[in-house]
Amino acid sequence: MKELVNRLARDHSLDANEYHKLIQDCDESTFDYLRKKAVAISVQRFGTGIYVRGLIEISSFCRNNCRYCGLRCENRTAERYRLSDDEILSCCDIGYDAGLRTFVLQGGEDVAFTDERLVSLVCRIKERYSDVAITLSLGERSMVSYKQLYAAGASRYLLRHEAASQELYSYLHPDNMSLQNRLSCIENLKAIGYQVGMGMMIGVPGQTVDHLVEDLLLMKEYNPHMIGIGPFIPHRETSFASASPGDLRQTLILLSIVRLMFPDALVPATTALSTLDAEGRKQGVLSGANVVMPNLSPADVRDKYSIYNNKLSIGAASVECMNLLEQELNSIGYQIDYSRGDYKTYGNE
Ligand code: 5AD
Ligand code: SF4
Repeated sequence: MKELVNRLARDHSLDANEYHKLIQDCDESTFDYLRKKAVAISVQRFGTGIYVRGLIEISSFCRNNCRYCGLRCENRTAERYRLSDDEILSCCDIGYDAGLRTFVLQGGEDVAFTDERLVSLVCRIKERYSDVAITLSLGERSMVSYKQLYAAGASRYLLRHEAASQELYSYLHPDNMSLQNRLSCIENLKAIGYQVGMGMMIGVPGQTVDHLVEDLLLMKEYNPHMIGIGPFIPHRETSFASASPGDLRQTLILLSIVRLMFPDALVPATTALSTLDAEGRKQGVLSGANVVMPNLSPADVRDKYSIYNNKLSIGAASVECMNLLEQELNSIGYQIDYSRGDYKTYGNE
């Protein structure tokens, strides 16, 4: 097993059977070794600085009906809100003062956020703060839309592929959504020049180790700049209400594998990971993650952006408590890196 990890660290790739074995048969000593290697490569590339991104949840309206998500359109009990441009700009002001230099505008696929409106919003943020990076996480949009938003100043886009397996993707999504469409959006974003984020949940109902291997192979093919991996957490108003959450250990294994596959990638210790386990954020960093995304949404909407139950938005997960985050990172030998943290390739070792 150690030999597999060494080879992954050296070649940044394994074959399907080998990934399967690493995930399936990861005993304690392999787990420790895998994480050590992932941390070593992360520290070699990025040092002990952890990039921070301010997350602004701009709308809880969504036209989609993904089976796993609390914001699915058929959830009539979800509280819907939409931030105004001024509210979003106020969040940026707070974030900028706290030292953040990346804002992530995330939301459901809300038709009220037309291209026109988003272009104007992105321009206003860039006018006010020319030195920040704007990341969008607003789902599937047209090529024209993606192009206009890039021209307006957005430079990064998060669009998790969710499941590389056709079969699992169809199980998790309604018939009007397709893996093919998802992937063509990701291709479009890359072609335009965005730094693109992919990723998936760990432990979503129906997911097997084979599916995870497919996710890894797909990401190897697309070579994303950012990779978001977090545990599935059930939401009570979905058909997966009584499903078990994803496993912490398995999530950490996947984080470490991804770090070794993509040494330069920006990999967050996700909010879902911190929600699943009080030590999740630290454990994520100690498995190779190098980004955290404190919540910058107005306090009164945070509970409404409920993609899964009990989503953490306080303490070190929020922008008000960056000091706690700093302390938490210090306790494991890391610190916040306030720079923009764009994707860079460091060349072959
Ligand atoms: N548990 C964990 N993550 C979820 N997401 C959606 N629903 C859940 C859930 N129940 C993730 C999806 C989406 C991202 C914004 O949140 O992967 O891409
Ligand atoms: Fe909408 Fe995203 Fe939730 Fe799917 S996962 S229902 S697209 S907010």
